[in-house]
Amino acid sequence: MDELRFDDQVVVVTGAGRGIGRSHALLLAAKGARVVVADMGGGIDGSGSSPDPADEVVAEIRRNGGDAVAHHASVADEAGAASIVATAIDVFGRVDAIVNNAGIHDPGRFEALSVEQFRTMLDVHFFGTLFVTRAAWPHFTAAGYGRVVNTASEAMLGGLPELTSYGAAKGAVFGLTRNLATEGAAHGIRVNAIAPRAFTRMSASSTDALMAELSLSRDEMEQINASMPPELCAPAVAFLAHESCPLNGELLQVGMGGVSRLAVVETPGIAKDPLTAEDIAANVDAIRDVTGAQAREV
Ligand code: NAI
Repeated sequence: MDELRFDDQVVVVTGAGRGIGRSHALLLAAKGARVVVADMGGGIDGSGSSPDPADEVVAEIRRNGGDAVAHHASVADEAGAASIVATAIDVFGRVDAIVNNAGIHDPGRFEALSVEQFRTMLDVHFFGTLFVTRAAWPHFTAAGYGRVVNTASEAMLGGLPELTSYGAAKGAVFGLTRNLATEGAAHGIRVNAIAPRAFTRMSASSTDALMAELSLSRDEMEQINASMPPELCAPAVAFLAHESCPLNGELLQVGMGGVSRLAVVETPGIAKDPLTAEDIAANVDAIRDVTGAQAREV
């Protein structure tokens, strides 16, 4: 198969100064894209800011022979997010794809988290994704073409402790992805998402909780961490951001050298008239049985 190239294309990657976003930016630039490396350089919980992470990634891309420009606004600020997309237009003259990757982490037990912490999580993950996408959307509809790759997380499915605020915000990103995919199709816009697995400063902060949850020794945890460099998430983003991508409204689980589809399925269930609460109670196993289930498409 021919290499998936991005020559003459411009891609915005948010949160591109570190971790997973940095890997996306480096791979896309190596494939010929001119990249807006957008990162406010904040702390893991969103506090503080620094131009250094974005500037360093731009310098790395240029050293590798690529072309990139840094931007230091917060995606959670509507005007800042708009200025990220405006930079793509001002500096490179176009925008073809956006990769909404910027994210923060601030775990805590449900009863210990403040409403403000929930809002901050939504501000960065959901509204950050919304603001950057809204700013790019008119350019995409005018061009009849655009690619959006959002960043969800398997945390939205539950199963790990202390992630109610983070997981709920990622669930909002997934809902936005699916509904934008529905509306974007008529304009040649495809909107998909990844649920990455990578060892970064963000996941490092959850190492102890994960070890306890999964009953792993530190050695076992370190082996797992070593098997999940962020670079292994970037190929899926290059695929989803590419012109040839046939998918729309999909969520790909990526990392550790693997990729799979996370799908929402509807089971055959049961039907009865009248359907009573007692019928449901008596048929729970049949209702939950995924044999013959259909994936919900957008
Ligand atoms: P990271 O903490 O290494 O990098 C995140 C980057 O986003 C940082 O450089 C930070 O400055 C930037 N950022 C944060 N808030 C920002 C804002 N408001 N505006 C602009 N930039 C901002 O984290 P990592 O692990 O690389 O995470 C990247 C994305 O992947 C996040 O959305 C995260 O939630 C998601 N994710 C990561 C997983 C993992 O295993 N590391 C698992 C599932 C999802």
